[in-house]
Amino acid sequence: MPLAHFDGALAVVTGAGNGIGRAIALRLAESGASVVAADIDLPAAERTVTLAKTLGAGGTAYQVDVADRAAMETFAAEVKEAHRVPDIVVNNAGIAVAGSFLDTGVEDWENILGVNLWGVIHGCRLFGGQMRDRVNALPNKPDKPNFGGHIVNIASAAAFSPWRAMPAYCTTKAAVLMLSECLRAELAGSRIGVTAVCPGFVSTDLVDHGTFVEGDDATTERLRTRGQKAIKLRNYPPEKVAERVVHAIIKNKPVVPVNFEGHLLHTLSRVSPASLRLLARIPARG
Ligand SMILES: NC(=O)c1ccc[n+]([C@@H]2O[C@H](COP(=O)([O-])OP(=O)(O)OC[C@H]3O[C@@H](n4cnc5c(N)ncnc54)[C@H](O)[C@@H]3O)[C@@H](O)[C@H]2O)c1
Repeated sequence: MPLAHFDGALAVVTGAGNGIGRAIALRLAESGASVVAADIDLPAAERTVTLAKTLGAGGTAYQVDVADRAAMETFAAEVKEAHRVPDIVVNNAGIAVAGSFLDTGVEDWENILGVNLWGVIHGCRLFGGQMRDRVNALPNKPDKPNFGGHIVNIASAAAFSPWRAMPAYCTTKAAVLMLSECLRAELAGSRIGVTAVCPGFVSTDLVDHGTFVEGDDATTERLRTRGQKAIKLRNYPPEKVAERVVHAIIKNKPVVPVNFEGHLLHTLSRVSPASLRLLARIPARG
């Protein structure tokens, strides 16, 4: 894969201040793209841009809460005004909520639906609309069709598999997968690719940032420590997810499971959903 593949491209990445989003932003920068790094945490987004610039790429940091419709509308308009219509958009920002369905309160549901689902909807609607309008404004060249752009939505292996310990997270990620498939079909005629990326466990701060809805403080701490240990033991770096994202854009892949458990759950969801229903019953406490 040529390193300069995205020379001159403009890429927007949400949740670019940390973890998988930061790794994707830097990998795209390394491949020649100019990066718009958006995060609710502005200093974190700025650190990513500083790193991107050391790779020779252009970059701008924005503070935006992807769950906030008005903020996302302003953000999309500012990107178009200050730069142009992006060629690549990665809707990555996400949070985790763990705990049983009956313990998950309405506020927890609103939080996770806001970031994990509405954040992706806003990103796809606003930037997807810009990309489609740009393609429609170009002269039609049947022999050499115009590239309309590419949207990557970071779902999860949780999209393939139910789990009683994370119903809210699994629900949002399954919705992101379906949204991506529907949008891919809609935008194919405009030469805009859409990919859902579905990683298993990745070494990031998702668990540290996550909300645990069950039990008292001691239980929360125990579950958080257990989750952190599991992620540390799994030891799968976000840079490898970023590598798969770049490959998915180049090859215009529809659905990309990442790492062993990502592939295993994807395969089981197709060949043996009954086995996933049994696994779904395992409680978080073991
Ligand atoms: N880490 C994993 O094991 C794993 C596995 C599969 C999928 N994912 C998905 O990958 C994505 C990135 O997660 P991560 O593991 O890098 O987590 P992380 O917590 O390390 O990073 C998430 C980033 O998103 C930002 N963010 C959070 N809420 C935001 C909001 N409302 N608006 C804008 N930015 C916001 C945070 O500030 C942070 O910089 C998420 O969608 C997550 O669900 C993670």
